[in-house]
Amino acid sequence: MAEQIIVLGTGGTIAGTAASSADHTGYTAAQIGIAALLQPVPGLHEALQGRELVSEQVAQLDSKDMDFATMLRIAQRCVQHLSKPDVKAIVITHGTDTLEETAYFLHRVIPRELQAKPVVLTCAMRPATSSEADGPRNLRDAVLLAGDAKACGVLAVCSGDVHHALAVQKIHTYALNAFSSGDVALGELGALAHVVGDRVNWGSASLADLDKNSHLALMQYESHAMNLVVIAFSQGMAWPRVEIVLNHAQATGSIVLALLKASTSEDPLRGIVIAGTGNGTVSESLQTALDEAQLKGVEIVITSRCAWGGIHDASALSAVKARIALVLKLLAS
Ligand code: SIN
Repeated sequence: MAEQIIVLGTGGTIAGTAASSADHTGYTAAQIGIAALLQPVPGLHEALQGRELVSEQVAQLDSKDMDFATMLRIAQRCVQHLSKPDVKAIVITHGTDTLEETAYFLHRVIPRELQAKPVVLTCAMRPATSSEADGPRNLRDAVLLAGDAKACGVLAVCSGDVHHALAVQKIHTYALNAFSSGDVALGELGALAHVVGDRVNWGSASLADLDKNSHLALMQYESHAMNLVVIAFSQGMAWPRVEIVLNHAQATGSIVLALLKASTSEDPLRGIVIAGTGNGTVSESLQTALDEAQLKGVEIVITSRCAWGGIHDASALSAVKARIALVLKLLAS
């Protein structure tokens, strides 16, 4: 039996449609089903290298509306497929806006041994109906990457750049190469590889270099997989509520105080992730409100609103990923 590559569709611009092929921005995301999306992809057959492509629609949404229940469903489908010996890899089509959050969630919850097989997220910045649609190339690249012998773990590919789930961030609102994993020269992981034509060119930073990267190595080992059964069980009990608050010039504690006021026994505020200035600093009045929240049992995690560099000796995660990490921590506690 031929090896299989499974493509899970979840929506996004890659599945979006606009009224005219000249319209690259005024479109509705998540309109075309994954089976139809795969039909016109040039080079897909060659990228499969004799493998069978199996598609499955897991969700159909604009990823601004992504939630933990959907992320969990995606993770469960990944685990079920990856456990089968004839499945080589998973490709997931996803909206760009929260791709990094789903990628990080999957990195955290898919058991390490199953991540010997790659899970490749891909996306598009232009809708499927655009005369300059980038989705078909990204999909083909994702399938090529999924079949590559060196690929493993949760990866993302967009505009030819291959990123790791731990490092990837959306950094541009409309550029086709909207994602970055930081500057290698500044100690960030950087893109792991580039898809050029029908080859995946792995850079000097390979997956093994994750272990050497000072920011990410810690998380690589700390982030043992969450037991999906535990997460699914707690779904019935609601996901712990964790909010993100930004520090800025003249920031007060009023948002934190409002969050505390809105916290109820049915829907308690369990955590706050601070996107602090620079090395995770917060204004004095925001700090006073955070102290009050902490006294009330709310867990506080400090990150930086700067894209890169992390917090010295603390979180290297962006605020959105730190929020997911805190939700998983609270679920496990
Ligand atoms: C989305 O994130 O679902 C819409 C935007 C995009 O995919 O670029």
